[in-house]
Amino acid sequence: MDLNLSNKVVIVTGGAAGIGRATAARFRDEGAVVVVWDLPDVDVTQAGAVNAAAAAVVAEHGRIDVLVNNAGILRDAQLVKWKDGEVVGMMDDATFDAVIDVNLRGVFLCARAVVPHMIKAGGGVILNASSIVGIYGNFGQTNYAATKAGVINFTKSWSRELGRYGIRVNAVAPGFIATEMVKQMPAKILDSMASHTPLAKLGEPDDIANAYVFLASDAAKFVSGAVLSVDGGLVLGT
Ligand code: NAI
Repeated sequence: MDLNLSNKVVIVTGGAAGIGRATAARFRDEGAVVVVWDLPDVDVTQAGAVNAAAAAVVAEHGRIDVLVNNAGILRDAQLVKWKDGEVVGMMDDATFDAVIDVNLRGVFLCARAVVPHMIKAGGGVILNASSIVGIYGNFGQTNYAATKAGVINFTKSWSRELGRYGIRVNAVAPGFIATEMVKQMPAKILDSMASHTPLAKLGEPDDIANAYVFLASDAAKFVSGAVLSVDGGLVLGT
């Protein structure tokens, strides 16, 4: 199957580590020209930096074919932690705002910056990193789960708004993925993650990278507004 990604110009946010790094490598394998937006050069929470970076990609490469909105952070805390009849902790404003800023505002800013260039060029593909917790919620992840649910509705809304310009918009919802950071967790936690997954193992960054490559390719040319779960069959809470 010809994925038709050769010489396509692909931006991967957060492409310096983890799933983003694997995604950048997979697109390069397919012959794409990959530009990574990551800290400290491009902070996806800063509209000025993002707009300038989009303009720079077009100036250097002539167009933007694919945006993978992968950059994301975690800052976990319970909404309110209650012990022995009193509040002993809570999610503070800064913790809430930091995750909203990167995972939600950052996705919005990057999409807003690239879409005019895609419309001018006659089309493009936007791919957003959601998560299984954006579907099921998760203990201690008020902020993160809300952003990952928000990204699903960015995907559906932009798919409706931008289809007429030949722009497809899809999301990927990974389950537990064995990035370097995850692999450093205690074996007991890793075993528990695997035991909750019907395929009985964690995913690899390449599993997510392959999903992005498929959704960006001509093999998915009639797929838009979709949320592709790549989670080994995991249903949180079971
Ligand atoms: P990671 O922490 O390994 O890499 C995230 C990258 O984003 C880093 O290179 C970091 O520098 C960059 N980044 C952070 N803030 C940024 C900012 N303001 N501007 C530009 N870049 C920034 O993360 P990982 O695990 O590879 O996750 C990638 C995406 O996949 C995230 O959106 C995450 O929420 C999502 N995801 C990951 C899962 C997993 O199991 N690893 C599961 C579900 C979703």
